[in-house]
Amino acid sequence: MSTAPTRAEARTRYGISEWPDVDRLVKRCDALATSPMRPLRRDRMEAYLGWFEERCPGSKAAAAAAAERIPGGVQHNLAFNHPFPLEITRAEGAHLWDVDGNRYVDFLQAGGPTVLGSNYPPVREKVVELLQSCGPVTGLFHEYELKLAQLIHDLMPAVEQFRMLGSGTEGVMAALRAARAFTGHEHIVKVGGGYHGWSDQMVFALRLPGTGALDAAGIPPECYQRTHEVFPHDVDELRRTLQANQSAGGTAAVIVEPVGPESGVRPVTADYNQQARELCDEFGALLIFDEVVTGFRLGLGGAQGYFGVRPDLTVFGKCVAGGYPAAGGVGGRQEVMATFAGGLSSTGVKVLVGGTLSANPLSCAAGYHSLLEMERTDAPVKAGRAGDRLRAGLDDLIHRYELPYVAYNFGSIVHLHTSGILQLDLRDPASFAEVGPRKHLLEEMGAAFTAEGVVTLAGSRLYTSMADTDEVIDEALAAFDRVFAHVE
Ligand SMILES: Cc1ncc(COP(=O)(O)O)c(C=O)c1O
Repeated sequence: MSTAPTRAEARTRYGISEWPDVDRLVKRCDALATSPMRPLRRDRMEAYLGWFEERCPGSKAAAAAAAERIPGGVQHNLAFNHPFPLEITRAEGAHLWDVDGNRYVDFLQAGGPTVLGSNYPPVREKVVELLQSCGPVTGLFHEYELKLAQLIHDLMPAVEQFRMLGSGTEGVMAALRAARAFTGHEHIVKVGGGYHGWSDQMVFALRLPGTGALDAAGIPPECYQRTHEVFPHDVDELRRTLQANQSAGGTAAVIVEPVGPESGVRPVTADYNQQARELCDEFGALLIFDEVVTGFRLGLGGAQGYFGVRPDLTVFGKCVAGGYPAAGGVGGRQEVMATFAGGLSSTGVKVLVGGTLSANPLSCAAGYHSLLEMERTDAPVKAGRAGDRLRAGLDDLIHRYELPYVAYNFGSIVHLHTSGILQLDLRDPASFAEVGPRKHLLEEMGAAFTAEGVVTLAGSRLYTSMADTDEVIDEALAAFDRVFAHVE
């Protein structure tokens, strides 16, 4: 009979069976981005687009109506889907159903928070219980706030204190503000291509390294002029940037996604985080791990436990409320976190954070019970094994059909690159002409996967969950097989 791991064991268990060979991967990704595109045969692609017309009339009508009242027709990028967004009416475990009754294997998993699978009943029951006893919010203290903070500390000892907020974006804003207040420095360094939410200072160098302020419409330059990007994995550039900042007021923080920007689209080498830690110590900057995706998904100890690197601050999102709303927060060293208490006391540095519905009992209960269930069921490890099976199957298909595509995974975070758009190197001006066509190819591949019954994140990322049994993964691989069989 298998028994649930103890808490101490749980925080040492990870869904990653081995770290990928990053040098080899980067070479393959570069080759994908610099070689001719390999789209689907046109007749096949037209057939897939025809599938949406025939099989998704309800979604099509809803998308047209939504476009009238919702800018762009969707409230979040995740819901973009070529040729139109799907209206989802049911989610359960590893599957989604749309309004037209089509069923899909769900590798979007809401963008990552649901390691237990969608709409996991034991957590839902606890949330309903809470709603029945005190409703979603009172504005006063609820025991779940403390229970969640204590549990996170038990799982990630570096999180000595935790402030719950409404989203990952807010967690990052709070972390940067605390880092500046604590260090007295102003500059922030991020890795090019990384996403840390949409605050004024972080809409910088998104998706592709080298894009700087390209996406910063509506943001005054003063807001991001102390944000600097460094090229992924380039420790020498990180050092040079920290050195340059030193004579200009110093660096408050280096913020990284610990598996690499965009959940590892450009995967980090296994020692990058440790090197970043050492450089931060040398230059008096705080190291912030943005664990919005990795926190609890890689394992209950987070990426910091996996890499054995202790960040000063950790940003949380997604899993911290188990897929329920208001998922965000920041935690870390007590003396840095104390800056948030300043708003309540009359002495010391005062870093103001707020949010009427932050730390509401509903989100805290959902997060607490999700983490307990993940611990009891060993969900990150099971989700990681599913990711391994999926990646291995994708590798076989790529090999069998002699495609230049690249698949790899860090446990339950699986990447599948078919178009090379995310690997373009904008330091080469010729790359700019490639952006449009390769983006279109990615959208089409995403549409083909969906028409074959598999929902992905933007056609290139796949989150697995504990609900992904071998049968589910094999069902998905059969769908990928049908798509890859028709590549030009
Ligand atoms: C690494 C990372 N940081 C921050 C965020 C922002 O979190 P939120 O969408 O909750 O604001 C995201 C969202 O996907 C993310 O992936």
